[in-house]
Amino acid sequence: MILRSKTPLLFTLVSCLIPLLWLFADIALNNLGSNPIQALHIRLGDWSLRFLCLTLAITPIQMVTKWRGMASYRQLFGLYAFLYGTLHLLTYLVVDNNLEWSLIGTDILESPYIWFGVLAYVIVFLLGVTTSKWSKKRLGKTWKKLHRFVYVASVAAIIHYFWQLKGNLAEPLLYLIIIFFLLSFRVLTWVMNRQKKLNKPQNLRLM
Ligand code: HEM
Repeated sequence: MILRSKTPLLFTLVSCLIPLLWLFADIALNNLGSNPIQALHIRLGDWSLRFLCLTLAITPIQMVTKWRGMASYRQLFGLYAFLYGTLHLLTYLVVDNNLEWSLIGTDILESPYIWFGVLAYVIVFLLGVTTSKWSKKRLGKTWKKLHRFVYVASVAAIIHYFWQLKGNLAEPLLYLIIIFFLLSFRVLTWVMNRQKKLNKPQNLRLM
C-alpha cells in the first residue's frame, strides 16, 4: 500500500535523472557539438533552472488542487536543482578552468553575470543541505524564512541567464514569464491572507 502511494514519486525521482543520463550518453558518443564545454554549461544550467521553476510551481499547484502530498515533490525538484547546479558549477571550475584559482578569481571579478550565478547557487546549496526533516525541526521558524529565499535564487538565476545571453531570447523570456507568474501568485496569496487576518478581529469586535 505504502509502496503503491510512493510509486509516482519514485517514477519522478528516476525520470529527473534522464537529462543527466542523456548528457552522459552524448559525452560518450562525442555528440556535444563543436563547443562541448559550452554545451555542458548550457545543458546543466538549463536543467538547474527548470528544476528551480518546478520547485516554485509546487506551492501554487498545491493551493489550487488542495493536494497535500506535494511537499515531497517540491523537495525532490529542489534537490535536483541543487544537483544540476552543482554539476554546472563543477563544469565551470574543473572542465572549463582546470581548477586554476587565479584564473577563476579574475573571471568571476570581471563577469557580473557569474556573481548572480554564484548568488543563485549559494541559496540553492543552503536550501539543499537544510532540506531534511531533521534540519526543519532544528531550524524551526528560521527554516521557513530561509526556504523563502528560493524566490531570490530564481530571480538571480534569470538575471544570470539574461546577462550572459549571446543569441536567442525566446527561452530565457519563457522562464522569465513563468517565474513572474509564480512570484505574482505568491504575492497575491500573501496579500489576500494578510487582509483576511486584518479583517478577523474587526468581525469579532462587531459580534
Ligand atoms: C543554481 C545556480 C545556477 C543556475 C540555475 C544557472 C543557470 C544557467 C543558465 C540557465 C545558463 C544559460 C544556459 C543557456 O545559454 O541556455 C547559464 C550559463 C552559464 N553559467 Fe550558470 N547557473 C547557476 C550557477 C552558476 C555558477 C555558480 C557559475 C560559475 C561560478 C555559472 C557559470 C555559468 C557560465 C560560465 C555560463 C555560460 C555558458 C556559456 O554559454 O558559455 N553558473 N547558467
